[in-house]
Amino acid sequence: MTRADHLVAIGGGVVGDLAGFCAATYQRGVPVIQVPTTLAAQVDSAYGGKTGVDLPEAKNYVGAYHQPAGVLADTATLDTLPPAEAGAGYAEVIKTALIAGGTLWERIAAGRPVDDRVIFDCARVKVSLVAADEHDDGVRQVLNLGHTVGHAIETVTGYTRFRHGEAVGLGLLAALSLSGQDELRARVAELLRRQGLPTHADGVDAAAVASATRRDKKRLGGSVPFVLVDGPGAVRHGAEVTAEQLDEALAKLCA
Ligand SMILES: NC(=O)c1ccc[n+]([C@@H]2O[C@H](COP(=O)([O-])OP(=O)(O)OC[C@H]3O[C@@H](n4cnc5c(N)ncnc54)[C@H](O)[C@@H]3O)[C@@H](O)[C@H]2O)c1
Repeated sequence: MTRADHLVAIGGGVVGDLAGFCAATYQRGVPVIQVPTTLAAQVDSAYGGKTGVDLPEAKNYVGAYHQPAGVLADTATLDTLPPAEAGAGYAEVIKTALIAGGTLWERIAAGRPVDDRVIFDCARVKVSLVAADEHDDGVRQVLNLGHTVGHAIETVTGYTRFRHGEAVGLGLLAALSLSGQDELRARVAELLRRQGLPTHADGVDAAAVASATRRDKKRLGGSVPFVLVDGPGAVRHGAEVTAEQLDEALAKLCA
């Protein structure tokens, strides 16, 4: 392979993240084309250029920003996706709809099925945030909604018990607790349940999740900035959360 060739990543988020990272580092960078074949990858992970792998210590601890030269998302590939994987991708759809608000949120909140339009709208939301802040210094951070606690849950359960999307769903519930949005939390929990996604992290050690949260790579000094929700379409990043507030939200989630 030379730097004039393209690496083509055909698969879900794991393949896309790994292939993207290989492309970012091989010969100091070769172009990559993302061909996402899961719902999570078509609505989220294929766009934005975040690539990498997990370490036992924490999620996505080794990686690079490497924008794809192109993304080819064929929604017909989703026909063979197992329901559990489609469910996991649905958590990223809920996240994106909460960030976007408006008609995207209304369609999801009404329980409408995910169709090509929803997938395309989610991709547009992600791409516009990335275009505004490629390296995550500001507004792109809202895409981390649900991921701070979600990543911590994945880490403390060894990346084996929950699919990424399942952990993100749990993280969304924690973020809505921290936001004081009880009604919205109940609505999101109902949407997750309908897709067969967990709404409780049964048996997960809340103290271990709190401590893994503090190792999040987005931490600044002593505190980890959280993405909180004032309502659909009104999401803010960089919010301070006290240890007591986090413990309370995690106690509810892990009960
Ligand atoms: N880079 C980013 O911005 C970003 C964003 C969100 C998630 N992610 C990462 O993405 C990963 C999760 O991605 P995922 O949910 O796509 O999971 P995945 O890549 O693990 O794929 C899920 C399963 O579906 C199978 N599969 C893929 N396409 C299929 C198809 N069309 N038909 C049948 N089976 C198919 C895969 O072989 C795998 O077993 C996590 O590691 C997460 O960290 C990255």
